Amino acid sequence: MPHPAIVKDNVAVITGGASGIGLAAALAFARAGMKVCIVDVDQARLAEAATKLSSVASATHVMTFAADVGKLESVKALERAVDAQFGGPDILMNNAGIQPGSTLFAEPDNWQRIVDVNMWGIINGSRIFAPQMIARGKPGLIINTGSKQGITTPPGDPAYNVSKAGVKAFTEALEHELRNTKDCHVTAHLLIPGFVFTGLTAKGRIEKPAGAWTPEQTVDFMLDRLDAGDFYILCPDNDVPRALDEKRILWAAGDIVENRPPLSRWHPDYADAFAKFVKGE
Ligand SMILES: NC(=O)c1ccc[n+]([C@@H]2O[C@H](COP(=O)([O-])OP(=O)(O)OC[C@H]3O[C@@H](n4cnc5c(N)ncnc54)[C@H](O)[C@@H]3O)[C@@H](O)[C@H]2O)c1
Repeated sequence: MPHPAIVKDNVAVITGGASGIGLAAALAFARAGMKVCIVDVDQARLAEAATKLSSVASATHVMTFAADVGKLESVKALERAVDAQFGGPDILMNNAGIQPGSTLFAEPDNWQRIVDVNMWGIINGSRIFAPQMIARGKPGLIINTGSKQGITTPPGDPAYNVSKAGVKAFTEALEHELRNTKDCHVTAHLLIPGFVFTGLTAKGRIEKPAGAWTPEQTVDFMLDRLDAGDFYILCPDNDVPRALDEKRILWAAGDIVENRPPLSRWHPDYADAFAKFVKGE
């Protein structure tokens, strides 16, 4: 049974919808007969994506909007445009994201930009769209794209980790708020992709690495888990099964409970203990 928000002529707004996971989601919603608005900062990608969408949806069901989700005014303009053209969304997928890389002490501009797009993007989208989605009284979905890096926070890209940890915390608070709001039929969900072969991860590669999922696999999994009512949509990939993710997440939480150093998974003194934990010893 598809989720009741995924219904013919209902409206889906997808940020970062011109490529990768966002475009795969837009195509899936369009195939379900929904009206789809893809939002992206990249105009050329938007035009290309609109052409792809037009092969599965009628022109009246496709809208593109150029916006920078990190900018509040941009997201407010998006909300007005969607309302005028389609009458407001039943599904909001706050998915736009960047991962240019970061270090702790260099590139101050990178930090600002990464947090603006990845974290403020989903905060802006949720805060601007959710009140009217609730008020419409219909079943609705807000899907925010997080990352395993926002949960286990591996070394190597601290700005991305911080931004995605913020996405997790915000989306958990959002779901708590929604389920405690009278007559609210909107639910929030945290999409946690595995390794997915997209523009974000390609890094010059043309062929999908064996370990990665395709965006389409990721969206199929997301749709299944939405039907099941999951909040945490924890996607595996071809290298990492759910059982290994569970161990990694438990180990990260265990750093606090066991009073270990942070990121002990990558600390040489804890390498054996972590390996044994993963094996279940
Ligand atoms: N690919 C993976 O392995 C992976 C893993 C975990 C999480 N994610 C997350 O999934 C989401 C989608 O990424 P993807 O892998 O499909 O990458 P992608 O690069 O294919 O898609 C991201 C899209 O977001 C757009 N975008 C960037 N900045 C924007 C802004 N300020 N405003 C509006 N649009 C903007 C880009 O132009 C691009 O079209 C991101 O949030 C990413 O962090 C991806």
